[in-house]
Amino acid sequence: MASSGESAEAPPNIVVLTGSAHPALGAEVARELGMPLGVCRTARFPDGEIQVEIDDLEVEGEDVAIVQPTPSGAAARGDALLELLFIADACHRGGAASIFAVVPYFGYARQDARKLSGVPLGARVVTRLLGTAPFERVVTVDPHSDVLGACLDAPMVSLSAVPLLVEALDGELAERERDLVVVAPDVGAVRLAREYARRLRAPVAVAYKVRTSGAEVSIERIAGDVRGRRPIIVDDMITTGGTMVAAAGAVQAEGSLSDVTVAATHAVLTPGAMDRLREAGLRRVVVTDTLASSASEYGATVVSVARLLAASIRHVAMRRRRAQLVLHP
Ligand code: R5P
Repeated sequence: MASSGESAEAPPNIVVLTGSAHPALGAEVARELGMPLGVCRTARFPDGEIQVEIDDLEVEGEDVAIVQPTPSGAAARGDALLELLFIADACHRGGAASIFAVVPYFGYARQDARKLSGVPLGARVVTRLLGTAPFERVVTVDPHSDVLGACLDAPMVSLSAVPLLVEALDGELAERERDLVVVAPDVGAVRLAREYARRLRAPVAVAYKVRTSGAEVSIERIAGDVRGRRPIIVDDMITTGGTMVAAAGAVQAEGSLSDVTVAATHAVLTPGAMDRLREAGLRRVVVTDTLASSASEYGATVVSVARLLAASIRHVAMRRRRAQLVLHP
């Protein structure tokens, strides 16, 4: 029994694989876990179909974590979701003991409600697709919608990058100044803004956003007092930058200081987004590396989630191992 207890506490060996969506993050997660990055070759057949190859001997009998954000369209490098499913299938057929999907950015999560007739529930479609793979856990960061967890059969581990972003903001802001105000640029970001505000010990203001198209938004009004305060506008993601720019304009029109900081977990950043922020005078931008992005080339602060992901993977693998020991002592 003593030896069982000891092995339960030993850090588990985890094979970390990564697809083509964000290999740098996969490598960093492996490094944080003290493991070499596993072999996973991704390419395309001549007709463009996804080609994946892993090393069966490497995954057989092992816990495998596949690190792959699933952006789409302009932000994607290939078809990230399908590639993730292919890698998972290869691991399953190669005899992996368990497979964790590590999806730091979850694409299509914004299509979580049927606001118009005639449109699909995209978030549900995507989670059902993910459900076709034998994932023991799905680990994600600041998902846009709770619908993801509700639709997935596999348990979802939802991590928050807010503590990391606040730590970076604290450094950027030099000190916790009393004149800050945390701004939610739309109602959907209020929960996130409250969490930032609690940690920064600042009040919250809320912008009421109306989206007129995919790239166009306007702010109807601001609830909360922003006058004479330094705004920190927080959101789960920056896509075109339109939301941040509109919110920054609206709070300044309400008398905030012009020294605006924006912070978001996911730097989706469609082409031109960083230029848009820069042209609007938003020079202090803090994001994470849940996605491969060009943010740092534009002077943004990019905080890595690799350690956060590695800690979660290690925790999940340890729990799994303990459960196995209880079932098969
Ligand atoms: C939407 O609900 C999201 O939380 C973000 O506010 C949105 O995706 C940001 O997009 P954009 O940067 O294009 O305004």
